[in-house]
Amino acid sequence: MVSTDQAVLRPAPESQHKVELAKLLAADTGLKPPGWRLSARSVRAFILGDVSLGITRKFYGDDALVERAIVSLMGEQGLMLVGEPGTAKSMLGELLSAAVTGSTRLVVQGSAGTTEEHLRYGWNYALLIAEGPSEKALVPSPVLQAMRAGVIVRIEELTRCPPEIQDGLISILSEKMIAIPELGENAIVRAAPGFNIIGTANLRDRGVSEMSSALKRRFNFETVHPVTDPAFERELIQRRLADRLTPSGITPNMPGAALDILVACFQDLRAGRTAEGITLQKPTAVMSTAEAVNVAHAAALEAAYLGDGTVTGAHLARQIGGVVLKDDPEDGRKFKSYVDHIIKDRARSGGDWRSFYDAARGLRLD
Ligand SMILES: Nc1ncnc2c1ncn2[C@@H]1O[C@H](COP(=O)(O)OP(=O)(O)OP(=O)(O)O)[C@@H](O)[C@H]1O
Ligand SMILES: [Mg+2]
Repeated sequence: MVSTDQAVLRPAPESQHKVELAKLLAADTGLKPPGWRLSARSVRAFILGDVSLGITRKFYGDDALVERAIVSLMGEQGLMLVGEPGTAKSMLGELLSAAVTGSTRLVVQGSAGTTEEHLRYGWNYALLIAEGPSEKALVPSPVLQAMRAGVIVRIEELTRCPPEIQDGLISILSEKMIAIPELGENAIVRAAPGFNIIGTANLRDRGVSEMSSALKRRFNFETVHPVTDPAFERELIQRRLADRLTPSGITPNMPGAALDILVACFQDLRAGRTAEGITLQKPTAVMSTAEAVNVAHAAALEAAYLGDGTVTGAHLARQIGGVVLKDDPEDGRKFKSYVDHIIKDRARSGGDWRSFYDAARGLRLD
């Protein structure tokens, strides 16, 4: 069943932000690139926010990157968003597709099992055998559908696809067409204006370096970095937390002091250096903003369902412990040393740092 407006765990951005998209469309007087639903200015406003129109900011950190990404989608080349896990590459790709084409429906999830059929076309074999090759028996890939409709298709984790499958994109991106010889020599689908590809690739997985240089040349690469500004990260976490809790009817109660602790810990452990300039051993675990949002969410759920509703340092310590201990046992030792030195010092001032320290000391970190 196709979902409509009923409650879903993770609505598509075009339905989640339906009202904002409608407002932007109604107020749009800017120049629209061929095939785009919105002007480039409105696409930017959708992603970076526009106070005068009541549009919220959705992507934090690097406004220039968003502008370059928009420009890149107007051009001949695809857009490739690369970066550490949890830096909002997928989210940015989705927001761009939602704004430019009004839908995020067309997507290919790259994996070792991705085949040509996922990028070009396959067949409904029952029909193929019964009637021979026909338009009806053709199963178009999301890429082929995007070409026909003149919209954006996303390819998630492109570097996880086998190299020969990745290379199938070279001709798609340079010739902007897919031939279907089984339907006759003139059966060629040419991309309508507005067609483009947004790829994402995770720098911790199978390398972008293994991507063929011919394919690399057909993409504009943009590296998405973790949010470095604590004030931005703070705002982002608050907003995402509200987004996540609202459907369950919980009003987030995360006092400023608790939020400061969460952001400070993530920034310290991510950078391997505290704001006061003390260096520490950086865990290999990914301390991404996405993980910070998960920690805030889990801590708020624990506070709401098992506590008195208010998130404390202790809730955060238990959740951050879980993030740090995901990958490498060595990370537990590093986190313990951070707690024993840096947090201990901060705990002297009392308050939430104290409850963070006490709870962190109670964790099994080795
Ligand atoms: N700069 C940012 N602006 C807004 N939200 C962010 C930012 N960085 C991280 N987030 C949060 O992180 C979440 C996860 O991001 P997303 O899944 O898009 O990351 P990703 O880079 O695709 O990760 P992966 O490499 O693991 O696929 C977002 O939904 C958002 O809540
Ligand atoms: Mg992703």
